Amino acid sequence: MNTQLLPATDASLALAARLLADGQLVAFPTETVYGLGANALDEAAVRSIFAAKGRPADNPLIVHIHDRTQLTDICEVTESAVRLMDAFWPGPLTIILPRKETVPDVVTAGLDTVAVRMPAHPVALAMLRACKLPIAAPSANRSGKPSPTSAKHVFDDMNGRIPLILDGGESDVGLESTVISLAGEKPCILRPGGITKAMLEAVVGPVELAGSILRPLEKGEKALSPGMMYKHYSPDGQVTLIEGEESAVVEALRRLYAHAASEGHRACVMCFTEHVAALADCNPHDIGSKDDPSEVAHRLFATLRGLDDEKMDVIFSEVVPPEGVGLAVMNRLGRAAAFRTVRAEEVL
Ligand code: TXA
Ligand code: MG
Repeated sequence: MNTQLLPATDASLALAARLLADGQLVAFPTETVYGLGANALDEAAVRSIFAAKGRPADNPLIVHIHDRTQLTDICEVTESAVRLMDAFWPGPLTIILPRKETVPDVVTAGLDTVAVRMPAHPVALAMLRACKLPIAAPSANRSGKPSPTSAKHVFDDMNGRIPLILDGGESDVGLESTVISLAGEKPCILRPGGITKAMLEAVVGPVELAGSILRPLEKGEKALSPGMMYKHYSPDGQVTLIEGEESAVVEALRRLYAHAASEGHRACVMCFTEHVAALADCNPHDIGSKDDPSEVAHRLFATLRGLDDEKMDVIFSEVVPPEGVGLAVMNRLGRAAAFRTVRAEEVL
């Protein structure tokens, strides 16, 4: 299949709408990451998303809408849901709600709940308006790769597998949406993202955090969100996270890099902008300012993709405090490192 990569224009949006109505797949930009969309009400079309991604069928998809009236046939809308939608939609928040019968099982992996989101990206909204359909869309990466934050990342993974990629530039947030479930007794964050726990609590009161956000699932532990069961992206190289006091971390990174390089590894460090100069001899990869976790979020997946392109085999990374957007960064970075962490002081 020939894959077209087109800037979003009236003509390419009309083409996207035709393809989607015809049961085909279209990759499109959102403010979080790129999505791989199909008509959520067309079972065969949704099935082809799983095939194009190589995604296990028991991992459910998010239904994207541009207008809340579309939810009538999709889910029950609770009072807390309305408050969250008023506060954060369009935006990087996915809400899990009791589903309606109209939604094909293939979308929800047979669960009695469904995930819904109204994205904030103008191209995503224009495409959703043009096709007038609820669009089921996971991130537009091949399963096992980091989510794509540019049209080029999508092309690298999906060339030949889908007919159209709409190019909307780099994704702003850079990490997938916050997923909150309103289907249980208390609101619970299943996946942290750009909308933080504090922001959610200001609107709906106390919110729980799923246990496995900063650690692997324990043996026998049931994942609240099926996506958490799967091995998340980790680069081909081994990533180790270094935590501790700032100057100790910089010194530890220097020593760990020197040791790995002396053993003949293709090694690098992932460090804050403020430390790039001090680590100039350590193949530094700038992950953004230490005072700006949103910038680290924005760059993280592109940096991780770059490591494999460069065939790095040993990677040492700084960490951010797991608070606010930093919690989302550490959820993804922790999984990239298989939670391998060392204290800087132990290296010195
Ligand atoms: O930012 C995003 O959310 C992007 C853009 C494209 O909107 N989409 C995205 O989709 O990240 P995906 O499929 O890569 O991640 C969806 C997550 C998965 O972890 C999945 O298990 C979970 O949401 N999920 C979907 N439906 C669910 C449900 N009914 N109950 C629990 N978890 C659900
Ligand atoms: Mg994904």
